Amino acid sequence: MRRNLSFGIALLAAVAAGPMSAQNAPAQSSRYANKLAPYVSSPARVIERMLELAHIKPGEKVYDLGAGDGRVLIAAVEKYKARAVGVEISPKLVAEASTNIQEAGVVDQARVVQGDVMDADLNGADVVFLYLATSLNEKLRPRFERFLKPGARVISHDYAVPGWKPSHVEKTDDPHAHLIYVYEMPPSKY
Ligand SMILES: C[S@@+](CC[C@H](N)C(=O)[O-])C[C@H]1O[C@@H](n2cnc3c(N)ncnc32)[C@H](O)[C@@H]1O
Repeated sequence: MRRNLSFGIALLAAVAAGPMSAQNAPAQSSRYANKLAPYVSSPARVIERMLELAHIKPGEKVYDLGAGDGRVLIAAVEKYKARAVGVEISPKLVAEASTNIQEAGVVDQARVVQGDVMDADLNGADVVFLYLATSLNEKLRPRFERFLKPGARVISHDYAVPGWKPSHVEKTDDPHAHLIYVYEMPPSKY
């Protein structure tokens, strides 16, 4: 009973700290230590709409920062003939995404690199997809302002980029009502 109680208290403390907290993450290798958003895939309908709103032209370079299993990259290549690069911190997900890219037959157009989104080389990016966290978007904002060219688009699932005014926001009409934020470089500021 006493053991159950302490476990319950520990669990409550972890939940209160939130899923984005690196502090309550289990012991990790240093390469994996900056995992700042949990792995949750974007649903197919949300990906479809994010891609539509990005207005990708064939050959444009798109990034998915925190690429998960690579599904956004694969859809961007298959539907819009993009060149797609994913950045993902989890080696396990990088391996899964690479297998998925291979199975989809898009190895010449899509790849995932293992690394931290905060170190991502965004040179030449036309579109950046995000499904991370507001705090992480805020940390990434100076890099976007420095490295993204005029006309590049940043499309974020559920989390705004603090300080920027979106050119468009929409809510999906499914029961979970996902939000999609669209920003065009240079974005106007609040
Ligand atoms: C919510 S998932 C989104 C997956 C995919 N983009 C999608 O929309 O289906 C967030 C992803 O970001 C990754 N991630 C978290 N912190 C990261 C970091 N600092 N650098 C790179 N990837 C990170 C997680 O491992 C996870 O796969």
